[in-house]
Amino acid sequence: MTTEVDLPAFPMTRTCPYHPPQGYAGLREQGAFAKVRLLGDREAWVVTDHAVARALLVDPRLSSDRLRPDFPVLVPRMSAAKLIPLVGMDPPVHTQRRRMLIPAFTVRRTESLRPDIEQVVAARLDAVVRQGPPADLVPGFALPVPSTVICRLLGVPYADHDFFEAQTQRMVLGSSSAGEAAAASVALTDYVDALIGDKQVDPGEGLLDELIVSHLAAGEITRRELAETIMFLLVAGHETTANMITMSVIALLDNSAQLARLRADWRLLPGAVDELLRFLSVADEIQRVVAEPIEIAGQTLQPGDAVYLPASAANRDPAVFPDPDALDVTRRARQHLGFGYGIHQCLGQNLARVEVEVSLRALFERLPTLALAEPLSALAVKPGGSVQGVYRLPVTW
Ligand code: HEM
Repeated sequence: MTTEVDLPAFPMTRTCPYHPPQGYAGLREQGAFAKVRLLGDREAWVVTDHAVARALLVDPRLSSDRLRPDFPVLVPRMSAAKLIPLVGMDPPVHTQRRRMLIPAFTVRRTESLRPDIEQVVAARLDAVVRQGPPADLVPGFALPVPSTVICRLLGVPYADHDFFEAQTQRMVLGSSSAGEAAAASVALTDYVDALIGDKQVDPGEGLLDELIVSHLAAGEITRRELAETIMFLLVAGHETTANMITMSVIALLDNSAQLARLRADWRLLPGAVDELLRFLSVADEIQRVVAEPIEIAGQTLQPGDAVYLPASAANRDPAVFPDPDALDVTRRARQHLGFGYGIHQCLGQNLARVEVEVSLRALFERLPTLALAEPLSALAVKPGGSVQGVYRLPVTW
């Protein structure tokens, strides 16, 4: 049993971009729960067991409310208690906001966007091919595809992408200071707020325009609340998906037998995307605070306890996923926690699935000789406590 003094520091950083931090293995050895030490010497629970993580993620005695003074701080950028729409809210406000957005993210609605997404992906690949190898597929492909798609869905001008992509990095990277992250969040919310003003005078097409008519005009949400909600969708809608496309390409190129199976039968693609979501767990740091005592798996969680449920820990639980460290595109991995679970389960998951499917198929069909232009070890990994990924994807073909 670990003693109070030598609790491991958390978050832990990955060394390989697509495997969980090595320290997670030691945490798993301690059972479903392990204790770690956070910034400022605070202790926290880390859950490594898939079944326990699922049970906790549907338990209303855990809170997501980032405005609570006892909400844990993982990295300095999270130290200013601030409102985080949807993912940082509890019912009943969370329920009301989420309900407002659900129709735009159903399977049917997102499938109807597939031809449009195929067109965006093809245009990006044309540009990559025109420019010729070597190329960095982050700015050339993995980032602009989801940025363009979420802009069209929301009705935000893609011409402003340099601005919102840069602000997003300042908000989400584990290396940002509290002041920098807070300033970026305000700048982005102000940007969407100004856009709402413009659209009230000169309406366009997109979810923001629909919400202005259906909810803002009806007085169901204030202008600032709407700006905050759309700001969050803009950020969540491109950053994680860009990391997912980047890391999927890396993982498949580095596991060439799996890529060969996929290329031989593209019907495997939807299942392979779930397996990649499990294997990569790009949105790793799922966090909560205990609001009321909970007894579970032989442990008592007390009010105010910080709880981390890293997706990559549950997704590598050998009791649920045999040989969990192997990428297997034929595995049935649908029960992974790559999109979370419970009331906060990713709202954009249908959209993300279509984007990743279309991107991977088009990329590997168009560039059959695609290869990494640098060894994996040359790619700097984003720091722990941020969305998981790398900054560059240098390739040749
Ligand atoms: C592969 C890409 C993506 C991954 C891996 C991912 C992962 C996640 C995870 C793990 C959560 C739950 C966090 C928690 O419970 O604390 C979440 C929530 C959320 N995601 Fe995603 N996401 C992705 C793409 C998207 C896209 C494209 C959108 C579109 C707007 C989106 C919007 C959201 C929203 C709004 C929430 C909060 C839902 C709520 O609290 O009710 N995500 N995502």
